[in-house]
Amino acid sequence: MTNSLDRRTLLRIAGASAGTAVLASTALAGPARATGSAFQHGVASGDPLPDGILLWTRLTPTEDSQPGSGVGPEVTVTWQVAADPDFATLAAQGTVATGPARDHTVKIPVSGLAPATTYWFRFGHAGTWSPTGRTMTAPEADADIDRIRLGVVSCANWEAGYFAAYRHLAERGDLNLVVHLGDYLYEYGTGEFAAGGTVVREVQPTHETLTLQDYRVRHALYKTDPDLQALHASVPWAITWDDHEVANDQWSGGAENHTPGTEGSFADRVAAARRAYAEWMPVRTGADGAIYRRLRFGRLADLSMLDLRTYRSEPASGLDIDDPERTITGAAQMAWLKAGLATSDAQWKLVGNPIMISRLDVGALPAWLLGPLGTLLGIPENGAVLNTDQWDGYNADRNELIDHLLANDTRDVVFLTGDIHTSWANELTTKSTGRDNPAAAEFVVPSMTSDNINDFLGMREGNTLSDLASGVIRSTNPHVRWTELDGHGYGVLEVTPQQCRMDWFHLVDRTQRSTGSRFVAGWSVSAGSSRLRSESSPLS
Ligand SMILES: [Fe+2]
Repeated sequence: MTNSLDRRTLLRIAGASAGTAVLASTALAGPARATGSAFQHGVASGDPLPDGILLWTRLTPTEDSQPGSGVGPEVTVTWQVAADPDFATLAAQGTVATGPARDHTVKIPVSGLAPATTYWFRFGHAGTWSPTGRTMTAPEADADIDRIRLGVVSCANWEAGYFAAYRHLAERGDLNLVVHLGDYLYEYGTGEFAAGGTVVREVQPTHETLTLQDYRVRHALYKTDPDLQALHASVPWAITWDDHEVANDQWSGGAENHTPGTEGSFADRVAAARRAYAEWMPVRTGADGAIYRRLRFGRLADLSMLDLRTYRSEPASGLDIDDPERTITGAAQMAWLKAGLATSDAQWKLVGNPIMISRLDVGALPAWLLGPLGTLLGIPENGAVLNTDQWDGYNADRNELIDHLLANDTRDVVFLTGDIHTSWANELTTKSTGRDNPAAAEFVVPSMTSDNINDFLGMREGNTLSDLASGVIRSTNPHVRWTELDGHGYGVLEVTPQQCRMDWFHLVDRTQRSTGSRFVAGWSVSAGSSRLRSESSPLS
């Protein structure tokens, strides 16, 4: 999102004991020591299935095998999946080759596992074990599940602060999955998008990422963050990208933050960014590189993860927003999404939706709010009434999707959204639904660290101006039941057969690694309804 905005601006198990590893290696003839020194970027798992999980790590086998270097030896990596943290009972194991062609990353789609089961995993090479990761498989497709809890995050800007949100989620110990809605990393050079202009910690490379080497180095930097490593090592993730994994306000043929004349071909840049992403992220990709996909948690819920950047039409201006030829999903993804939602037999249909789908009218807002809000949304201060980078810029697709839900009487759809850096609880209405019968609920999590309203106003969080702004937005947009424009943090989603509920937690100070977090709001939706209800205290 946000062109002008961006311009201006446990872990216990992660360090499995040497004794543990020696015990296992004795039994399994694997690596003998557990220093982890060759594994500097942590371990991760993703996209759980009832019988499998995707495992990830990155190996630094020699001093010269640095991320992005393109050099280093071809090596063989051992991997193990066990039913216990001591690796006494192995469930699966094997070896895999890696080398400089894939930046010494390792991705293993493990199968043959038991459903709804916690596993521990690790990698070995040349006498060392990686840190130990913990993960879990999904339930059987027809299993009756009482509850799942998901951590929900987006917009982790390295230079704007620390990833305390990841630490707080890792320390909970009650999550089945982390859903990351994009902007896992940012492409900017140092100082181009920091914390209200102040660089909390410097990115590498220090210039804007353009080449394969650049993107690999940036991914590697993020993977050195201890809080990020802790959350990856403790729970599987389901990830999608937004724009900054390539460049700001990306669409299928370009991006706001890409200049073909001086920054090369956009297609080459996308290919480089996508290749590094596929190497460095624990995400399953299709044969054509597609990452929109669906996960399932028994009969309780499925989760459709969307890609709203790869196939979208060029950003619109004026009446183009209503052009039925323009798309945010692309035809194939829209057909897949519509079919998946309408035919699902899961109680809840969750949608990992990088960009806000609820309408946001800003035309009636006063100038003092329209300025910073326009900056955040990337809209002119005095003109547009819509943020055309969101679904608001693609009315035909939004209407097509919502009309399809109405036509099929598809209920219990909940959009999980990021991108906008602020916190929202929305009832999704269109001209087809009317005000009192929303088609779905939408829960929007704030940025983990990226700037938002008070950062642009140059004021502290929770100032009276931001509070007033929230009220004005709500009065202009009655489908917005709650919004908070200053806080950075994360969400925790609980799904039960009876209700789906999001709790929002905000960080005390994003610029401090050890910062605390506090519960700021909870909103729930009951099965059969898309009306939201406020909750007064956090989930226990
Ligand atoms: Fe962002």
